[in-house]
Amino acid sequence: MSTPAFPLRITAKDLLTPSVCRFELRAPDGSALPAFTPGAHLTVHTPSGAARSYSLTGDPAERDRYVIAVAREDGGRGGSVSLVDDTRAGDELAVSAPSNSFELRPSQRYLLIAGGIGITPIRAMFRHLRRRGADVRLVYLTRSPEHTAFLGEFTVDDETVVLHHSGAGAGRLDLWPYLAEPREDTRVYCCGPAGLLADVRALTMHWRPSRVHFEDFAGVAGTDGTALPFRATWRPTGQTVAVPADTTLLNALRDAAIEVPSSCESGTCGTCRVRLYAGEPEHRDLVLDADQRRRFVMPCVSRAEGESLEIGPDVATSGEYPAPADNQ
Ligand code: FES
Repeated sequence: MSTPAFPLRITAKDLLTPSVCRFELRAPDGSALPAFTPGAHLTVHTPSGAARSYSLTGDPAERDRYVIAVAREDGGRGGSVSLVDDTRAGDELAVSAPSNSFELRPSQRYLLIAGGIGITPIRAMFRHLRRRGADVRLVYLTRSPEHTAFLGEFTVDDETVVLHHSGAGAGRLDLWPYLAEPREDTRVYCCGPAGLLADVRALTMHWRPSRVHFEDFAGVAGTDGTALPFRATWRPTGQTVAVPADTTLLNALRDAAIEVPSSCESGTCGTCRVRLYAGEPEHRDLVLDADQRRRFVMPCVSRAEGESLEIGPDVATSGEYPAPADNQ
């Protein structure tokens, strides 16, 4: 695994809405937890065996606990349902250390847009920026007050907060007035359901891409209508495997008896990371940052832009093979 898991105890568990459950996690011995920054997420190994990533919604200054909020969706993948249904306060969960692919970057102004459970990283960012006295505006979109996690924190008489409920005939909020003018002094951070992300992507086409940031924990797919076949060479053995269009790189390696650990298999947890030695990957994951993408590939979802890749074990965790130069 890219980050070793360690045990945390559920010290509190309560419902924020009929479908969103808050968990407070602490070290069993009460020791300080690894630090995190606003926007970071945690990978939790749920009782079902599936690993799922959840944004840390608490205060990064609190080193004695992590707080996450989990949406339980009947039609969703099993991990979150299992976490809500099959755990209780006092249980221990294996958790991987926080990592952040939705990092707050310096800016004069911030526009934060959250839809539904997407409030979790945005809440940590909003509270952090407010505490620093930053110029920040929050647009928080939900179905109804009943389905609004942390409702009490976001009052309508606060000029920096736009709270909109689409139910009871109100319909969707028109985001164009907030995004019409592309501003060089503003960064946009958006987290929420796929429809909201698509809307904000469309409405910010005229913004500089580096000013607009998205977080999507729904995961991605390694095979779809756009996937093309390629070859992968496993550097430690020199073995070359064919990766058909309808197979992930991870499964092609497995079929060739090359074992790479995995968990979410949707590009969100970081478990399957392998080293990149040659070739141009088509990165589809939601884990690696721009610098890491020059050196690593997530084989559960990522593919090749060209005909081949050369890859090997993640040296950071396996210690089996020498690291490539950073610029490879
Ligand atoms: S298994 Fe989770 S990112 Fe690949």
